[in-house]
Amino acid sequence: MKALTIWLTGLSGAGKSTLAQQAAMHPALANRPTAILDGDVLRTGLCKDLGFSPEDRHENIRRVAEVSRLMNDAGVTVFCALISPLRLDRAMARDIVGPDRFLEIYMATSLETCESRDPKGLYRRARAGLIQQFTGIDAPYEVPYDPVLTLDTLGQTIDEAKHSLVTLILARDQR
Ligand code: ADX
Repeated sequence: MKALTIWLTGLSGAGKSTLAQQAAMHPALANRPTAILDGDVLRTGLCKDLGFSPEDRHENIRRVAEVSRLMNDAGVTVFCALISPLRLDRAMARDIVGPDRFLEIYMATSLETCESRDPKGLYRRARAGLIQQFTGIDAPYEVPYDPVLTLDTLGQTIDEAKHSLVTLILARDQR
């Protein structure tokens, strides 16, 4: 059983946090210590001094990757749910964690779907110009070139997405 960093990237509202929570609680992973590092949560504590400029996002991702590395060293499998919009920053996270235990998962939920869900009302506020540098509106999201798994909660149920992810994690144990 290998401690992994499951790096979930995608737009705000793509379902990263939900999937992280559900996968971490999956019975098949019950004998494995797990933790969740969620962007929204971290930004109220460890990263509360950071905003959403490219530099601050870079620092946010660096910190989370460093924490995840430490937790992996301690044997904990970590689900990181961060927009992490830039390929270079995700590559940095992979370098920090170590490529052999870093799994990049792309939550491919479209902007249209995320915006129609808008659970926190942030897209509406971004469209109204009340929030700047909002990912997908006036800040970029770079789709991963080579994620180990791509999930879309529109084309599949959350249960199917969870199943694919847990299967992937268990398969890593066989390597
Ligand atoms: S990241 O880009 O640095 O990886 P992170 O995942 O930590 O972002 O935080 C994203 C969350 O912050 C979003 O889900 C949303 O709730 C909130 N948020 C507030 N302002 C912004 C913004 N300008 N762009 C994206 N997300 C924002």
